[in-house]
Amino acid sequence: MGENTGDNPNMSILQRIATSDVPLVKEYGLPGIIGAILLAVVIPIMLSSIFNKKGKKRAVQADVGGEAGLAMRNSRFSMLVEVPWEGATTMAALFEMASKKYPRHRCLGTRKLINREFVESPDGRKFEKLHLGEYEWDTYAEAFSRACNFASGLIKLGHQRDSRAAIFADTRTEWIIAAQGCFRQNLTVVTIYASLGEDALVHSLNETQVSTLICDSKQLKKLPAISSKLQSVKHVIYIEDEPVEAEVLNQMKHWTTFSFGEVEELGKTSHTDARLPSSTDTAVIMYTSGSTGLPKVYTHDEPTILLLSLNKSLSDGVMITHGNMVATTAAVMTIIPKLGTGDVYLAYLPLAHVFELAAETVMLASGAAIGYGSALTMTDTSNKIKKGTKGDVSALKPTLMISVPAILDRIRDAVFKKVGEKGGLTKKLFDIAYKRNLGAIEGSWFGSWAPERMIWDNLIFKPIRSMLGGRIRFVLCGGAPLSSDTQRFMNICLGVPVGQGYGLTETCAGAAFSEWDDTSVGRVGPPLPCCYVKLVSWEEGGYKISDSPMPRGEVVVGGYSITKGYFNNEAKTNEVYKVDERGMRWFYTGDIGQFHPDGCLEIIDRKKDIVKLQHGEYVSLGKVESALTTSNYVDSIMVYADPFHNYCVALVVPAHQALEQWAQNSGINYKNFDELCHNDQAIKEVQQSLSKAAKAARLEKFEIPAKIVLLPEPWTPESGLVTAALKLKREQIKTKFKDDLGKLYH
Ligand SMILES: *[C@@H]1O[C@H](CO)[C@@H](O)[C@H](O)[C@H]1NC(C)=O
Ligand SMILES: *[C@@H]1O[C@H](CO)[C@@H](O)[C@H](O)[C@H]1NC(C)=O
Ligand SMILES: *[C@@H]1O[C@H](CO)[C@@H](O)[C@H](O)[C@H]1NC(C)=O
Repeated sequence: MGENTGDNPNMSILQRIATSDVPLVKEYGLPGIIGAILLAVVIPIMLSSIFNKKGKKRAVQADVGGEAGLAMRNSRFSMLVEVPWEGATTMAALFEMASKKYPRHRCLGTRKLINREFVESPDGRKFEKLHLGEYEWDTYAEAFSRACNFASGLIKLGHQRDSRAAIFADTRTEWIIAAQGCFRQNLTVVTIYASLGEDALVHSLNETQVSTLICDSKQLKKLPAISSKLQSVKHVIYIEDEPVEAEVLNQMKHWTTFSFGEVEELGKTSHTDARLPSSTDTAVIMYTSGSTGLPKVYTHDEPTILLLSLNKSLSDGVMITHGNMVATTAAVMTIIPKLGTGDVYLAYLPLAHVFELAAETVMLASGAAIGYGSALTMTDTSNKIKKGTKGDVSALKPTLMISVPAILDRIRDAVFKKVGEKGGLTKKLFDIAYKRNLGAIEGSWFGSWAPERMIWDNLIFKPIRSMLGGRIRFVLCGGAPLSSDTQRFMNICLGVPVGQGYGLTETCAGAAFSEWDDTSVGRVGPPLPCCYVKLVSWEEGGYKISDSPMPRGEVVVGGYSITKGYFNNEAKTNEVYKVDERGMRWFYTGDIGQFHPDGCLEIIDRKKDIVKLQHGEYVSLGKVESALTTSNYVDSIMVYADPFHNYCVALVVPAHQALEQWAQNSGINYKNFDELCHNDQAIKEVQQSLSKAAKAARLEKFEIPAKIVLLPEPWTPESGLVTAALKLKREQIKTKFKDDLGKLYH
């Protein structure tokens, strides 16, 4: 990707498009603009189809063992990659070798806190505002030596070598230093996703018998309240990101407490030899939310009620080996074009999530600079940034970042809103430019012609790009499917390819990853070079590898990135992990996918969203919901199928306007919308409309909800019933409306 950062004569006008309402026309003159547009349209017609890169095979069939299915491997490698380079077989070796390769390059950067203040909003709420300084860096050599000191300090302060350490902190320099310190002593690090809550924290620390807890000042404050339940903990090491009050430490007298700096000092003055791990040793036990399904309890007398009232089971810790981490790292390094010491990476997602840990390891292996930030301080206008001071991206000017769909959606909405507010010529030009680029990217009749895109980039999109520091050249997106609208927005307005990753904690983030020159949407790319992706027919669910036009089946991933299993849960491990006759590990994801002709994977369904009814028919909840959403009475809908009955039901949030309109036309009297939702005629009307939609989509009779409830309150991300991307949170909805669901099955 060419960078265009030098003295750009267009800079002043570009900034003005973004920041003021001075019409563009005044600067260039209308003829100039029309000329540029004509030039941009005519020449591509002549050059059309020259740069067509369709038809490239990105994955090819692979010969593998294990259960019968259709397996693919990345077409660029005939054998799976296992390590980034010879000798880098563990996280510890990888970091040590990187620190010798790039000793004086910037490694880990933190912004200095200049000032913290609180401002009061008109309604009396207090908001913290930070004034943060420039980044201060540890070089690779310095970061490595800090990790060595921390390792020595940990042993010196009495951490027993056969017990574990846990990190419970936001993403920051000390996280990596502590983790690398532990790895040098072959200590397994337990990570806990901070939002999992107290119960999960107690459960996971106790289950893994953690004796040293490393936390930041925010998490430290939570400890006194639960200290009596943390029986295995003996030492607490706190990161002094904020001054820690003596009172908090006084409440933890039964533990030995050290500041992070004290441990490093201790290690500096009393060196302990490293005890390096091997590649099959467990590096991390990771507790995240996510992949846990409903426990199987179909034997109870009252199955409906039991299913509905089950509390979310505590998640299981996934055991990730050093070999898993370096394999994913090696694979991802081949995906990002021209990755190297010139790159600057913005780190802000939780390191307790495998995507972030893998991404930062990729950066460490490449000699890139990792600058730490947070979602609340990211841009100049972020909530916690003091007005007039710089956000993380302005201070760091990153070239790479990783994101999750929700954050990219938010950026997109903000830009569209701003353009809409400006209106006038700015909006018109933006719309034209957006459409032209969309056409170019989607490869319509004029092909994709780089010079045209350059013109629009300079004219319209550059100021938008400066929102993220102006130098971003690649965005990795993972965690959930990215909407095609948002992917296109990133391609066009930020001018960057978005690599979409598909993977789970159990596959150490790695499974499939879209390649930077693949501009299609909705797919997750070919298998990463460290693993195979296999589709296995699921006959009962109606997904077979013999399906046409594309083979379909359950996604099963095998290779070097497949983790050891769940800590202390052999039964569950054996259920979803299998070892084949050649010794390769496979993980059964429960996701349903299909392979496109070029070998790229698309995720189309989820096994657990498919329910088997009493008489053996399968209902794919997602499929039925998307068919029923076409009824104009539906605002939101969740279909529910109880395996002990032979019909399904639905919770419907009706579209206010449509239903009220109908009520008016039908002469129905009602006091408020709530009452209308309980009106029998209204329920009947909506149900008829659902049946019509179901028939149009040719659903089977058993797939059409036999009974429904109308719910007056909309489902929003704030209510916790849908995700930021408006995906249903089935468990939460089920719990909240369990009485309604119970009645539907009477
Ligand atoms: C901690 O784990 C032990 C078994 O290892 C168990 O007996 C005990 O009840 C657990 N304590 C808590 C607070 O969960
Ligand atoms: C690392 O520690 C684990 C667990 O204590 C042990 O089984 C393994 O042998 C150790 N690895 C090496 C290379 O000593
Ligand atoms: C779920 O949790 C609540 C309180 O948190 C408890 O009262 C209830 O018994 C739990 N239900 C089950 C099925 O464990």
